[in-house]
Amino acid sequence: MKKITIAIDGFSSTGKSTVAKRIAKHLGYVYVDSGAMYRAVTYYAMQQGFIDSNHFNIEGLVENLKAITISFKFNNALGFAEVYLNGINIENDIRTLEVSSFVSKVAEISEVRQKLVEQQQQLGKDGGVVMDGRDIGTVVFPDAELKLFLTASPENRAKRRFDELVKRGDRVLYDEVLKNVEERDYIDSHRKDSPLVKAEDAIEIDNSNMSKEEQFHIVLGLVDKRINSI
Ligand code: CDP
Repeated sequence: MKKITIAIDGFSSTGKSTVAKRIAKHLGYVYVDSGAMYRAVTYYAMQQGFIDSNHFNIEGLVENLKAITISFKFNNALGFAEVYLNGINIENDIRTLEVSSFVSKVAEISEVRQKLVEQQQQLGKDGGVVMDGRDIGTVVFPDAELKLFLTASPENRAKRRFDELVKRGDRVLYDEVLKNVEERDYIDSHRKDSPLVKAEDAIEIDNSNMSKEEQFHIVLGLVDKRINSI
């Protein structure tokens, strides 16, 4: 059976990675979390002192992009690939609200995007990939056979992200999570390079009132239909 490319884009915390991971597992495809790559660069910038709440040394980061190697290694116990920065597993470190508070500023930089998009295209060059992010259907894989665009109300999304962070043991307030979700939505949709927009041929799914199970079956139905149409 032909292996297609599935691009899933959408606003922050719309459950893209949850459904993408499950679809990839079901089909035996590779799942790539492109957001994890932007988070990894952000984590690097924080470690090197290029970014904090008072300043952002963009030139410093851009000059050092060559020193950043991002890789993914499949974790059998978890059932998905974890992200590594220069050989070190940073899967947990990149999910904090602090990284979330800087990541959209880092993702605005064209040099950062160029580096990561190139790697993403390389990872998906043989098809059989499910990739989620903001510009997958528009920039990374404009020819993807199936493009989805996920949305949900900001309050729903903030609640989901808040629950995730609390479950991890992070001490966060719902209001600051909501503020972060709204800020990232704004920056991601208004940046010059590769803004978050729905690709013309993407199918929009509002999952505000959908369970993870319902969403999985809806997406799986769309995948089957698309594969059978080829
Ligand atoms: O998990 P969540 O939806 O909150 O975000 P993510 O997928 O981990 O992405 C984190 C951030 O990386 C986004 O808010 C964007 O600023 C940036 N990003 C991007 O610019 N392009 C992508 N393809 C993926 C993420």
